Amino acid sequence: MLNNDIQYNISLQPFNTFGISAVANQLISIKQVSKLQQLISNKILIDKPVFILGGGSNILLKNNFQGIVLKMDILGKNVVQENENHVWVKVGGGENWHEFVLWTLANNYFGIENLSLIPGTVGASPIQNIGAYGVELKDVFHELEAINLQTGQSATFSHQACQFGYRNSIFKNEIKGQFCITSVVFKLSKMPQLHIKYGAIRRELEATNVSENQWTPKMVSDIVIAIRSSKLPDPAQIGNSGSFFKNPEIPLAQFKALQKKFSNIVFYELPNDMIKVPAGWLIEQCGWKGKRIGNTGTYKNQALVLVNHGNATGAEIYQLSSDILESVQQKFGITLSREVNIIE
Ligand code: EPU
Repeated sequence: MLNNDIQYNISLQPFNTFGISAVANQLISIKQVSKLQQLISNKILIDKPVFILGGGSNILLKNNFQGIVLKMDILGKNVVQENENHVWVKVGGGENWHEFVLWTLANNYFGIENLSLIPGTVGASPIQNIGAYGVELKDVFHELEAINLQTGQSATFSHQACQFGYRNSIFKNEIKGQFCITSVVFKLSKMPQLHIKYGAIRRELEATNVSENQWTPKMVSDIVIAIRSSKLPDPAQIGNSGSFFKNPEIPLAQFKALQKKFSNIVFYELPNDMIKVPAGWLIEQCGWKGKRIGNTGTYKNQALVLVNHGNATGAEIYQLSSDILESVQQKFGITLSREVNIIE
């Protein structure tokens, strides 16, 4: 471990998509698993707050960070197993997610085309089980490797061990902050299998004049990129972390009572008599869509996305999220939960 590997008092502004200018005491780039293990065996991380930074696309930095930021820069994409129908690809945690998606398409490996243009890194993708347009990471996940930050030992997490849920996994719960994900193995298909149940994707495919039996995963990817670009702000233009809240799930009885009062409520039926209501709709109904408060606001095309119009602090954005939570609670009796990780 060389001292010049540590950068001191470094601005995290380039490393979070909200563009918050918080400062970290120390930042260390991790390019190899062995480097991380060395830091642990040399007791560099002991008794200090440690924060693992991927693409910084699902975090809100509320304050300066008084500890060590480990920036995950482990790269590599390797086919580790193959059969007639499938390929298993091991990907370094520091790889950019969208570049990985494009690489799979270029190699005719299919299954993650619906997850095109999601910001962030491969290593962060299992933590919140990223999902979009009817596909979730768990649908293609095989296993991952992670380093125990206490012992430095490597551990393999199977699909089951990850306990995936809607924008959720064991890494956000029981073992939060205890492991650093260094690589992920995906099981991808060699045969295209389109996931086009999501209405907007099918509509766009139908509008292309290409006959249905010729639709390709690359076409789905291009459509997802177009839909996302029209609805979601580009972090390079306007700071944001995508959906700020999860879509709440409520019991059928509660939903029916709400539907009497709000007949135009948007909803999706779930198993077990539960109903999912889009948080973006609830927030829009409370009058927040496109609203600007100082340097903060919600995006004009998608109320679920909180934005930094420039120079907002993490505390200001957090305050806006609290105000939104309160008004949704008052109008609908539903408590939203934050999807973005709040870093204190
Ligand atoms: N809606 C509104 N007003 C808004 C936004 C949405 O009324 O301002 C209503 C519309 O009726 C729309 C419905 O909400 O039909 C659903 O909106 P959308 O299709 O944009 O999806 P979402 O439920 O808001 C979720 C994910 C997104 C993902 C999209 C597409 C969550 C928290 N968000 O958003 O994920 O891209 O579906 O699959 O589940 C992310 O997690 O960062 C993210 C962007």
